[in-house]
This record gives sequence, C-alpha cells and structure tokens, in this order.
Amino acid sequence: MATGNTFQPKMVGIICNWCCYGGADLCGVSRFQYPPYIRLVRVMCSARVDLLHILRAFANGQDAVFIGGCHLCDCHYVTNGNFNAFSMVQVAKKLLERVGVNPKRLRLEWVSAGEGIRFANFMNEFAAEIEKMGPLGKAEGCGDETLARNLAAVESVVPYVKLVLTQKLHVPVKTEEAYHEFFTSKQFDRLFDEAIAGKLATSQIMRLLREKPLSTREISGALGLSPSEVSGHMTQASRQGLVRYDVDRNCYALA
Ligand code: FES
Repeated sequence: MATGNTFQPKMVGIICNWCCYGGADLCGVSRFQYPPYIRLVRVMCSARVDLLHILRAFANGQDAVFIGGCHLCDCHYVTNGNFNAFSMVQVAKKLLERVGVNPKRLRLEWVSAGEGIRFANFMNEFAAEIEKMGPLGKAEGCGDETLARNLAAVESVVPYVKLVLTQKLHVPVKTEEAYHEFFTSKQFDRLFDEAIAGKLATSQIMRLLREKPLSTREISGALGLSPSEVSGHMTQASRQGLVRYDVDRNCYALA
C-alpha cells in the first residue's frame, strides 16, 4: 500500500515454504494489499537463510530484508530450524549496528499459512518504516564506498561468527521465552563484545588499510574507535603478521 512518500525502497522477503509462504499466498488470494516492491524468495525453512544472504542483499542495494518463518516450535523440521534463524538474526542486527547500518532494516517474523492478514500487516508496517527511514547508507549518513567497505568487513568475519554462534551463543532450551531472555540479556551483549566485536573491528581496519596506510588517529576517526582500542587491535594484528608499523611515517600498513 503506497504511503505517499516519494522514496520507493528495494525490499526482499526470504520466507519459509511451509508457513510464511502459505500466509503470503493466502494474503494474495484474499486480496490483502501490500507494496509490490517487496520481492519474495521462498526457502524450505527460515534456518536456510544465511548471514551471507542478508549481507549480500544489502551490498547489492536492498534497503531492507524481511525473514519469515513458521511460529517458534511449529517449524516443519525436527531441528526446529527457526530457533537458529532467531539467533542468527539477533547477531546479524548487532553486526549491522556496529558498522553503522540501522538494524531495523532487518526484520524477522513468524506467520502461519492461515495468517494472510498478519503477513499483509507485517509487509505494510515494515515498508512504511523503511520508506520513512530512507535509502540504505544515505539515511545512515554514510557514502556508498564506506557502506560497501563495512559490509565487506562483516562478510569477512562470517565464518568466525558462525563458529561463535554454535559454540558460545547457544541457548540450551528451545522455547520462545528462553531465546528472548538470552538475546536481550547483558550476557549476550558481553559475549558479543568479547567474542565478535574485536574481530569485526580488526576486519574493518584491514579493509581501510587496503586503501592506504593510516595512523592510529586516522583509523580512530574513520571507525569511531578510541586510539587505545585501535592500538589494541593493531597489536593483535601485527602479532598475527597481518599488519606492520611504519615507524618513519608513523602509520600502519598491510604486511
Ligand atoms: Fe518454516 Fe522451519 S519450516 S521455519
């Protein structure tokens, strides 16, 4: 449904075959309206949506990504895959936020095959929110180059993030309450900071250094990190043989 805003976002919805797609189908059959610019991709389960799919969607110009699955505990697979989707989306939102992308551009919802109106409501609500927010990058006050560099930095740490997701961010009880509780807890924030944030910052710095050697102050200014944080990351990176310090020019460069 058009909202009168001149900005027409590009939006992709990745939805599971067994419930959310059924809901989308019912929405169409029932003639409930939602913006035609939301393109839908059907997957067999919301757990099939990879962090890389989200990052590539944004890198390829989508302003928002919607993920739809069966209600929690109603996933059609024995592994209850939508709990994995839940965890992955919480981490993805944090990663996006860290690199300056509004995490509200990523949305996860549960829709059953009998909930056509619920699907339409989510689409209309999300589209209106993104229209109001504006284009990706521009609304965040960051240029195309910076956005592309930051998304590439996140992409570089995806294999590591997946490892952390399975080993450290594992919620032992598969209930909606337990997942909500864990992913809104200080414990999750702490684990994210300890296990992922440093890797991401180093990845962002390495991307910057690909362009030219930079001083601690320049890196600090570009990424909004304190000089001592930059020094800490660079000490680690030089121990791993990734960067070298050029004493004459007082700057870091790729090794
Ligand atoms: Fe729908 Fe798994 S089958 S979320």
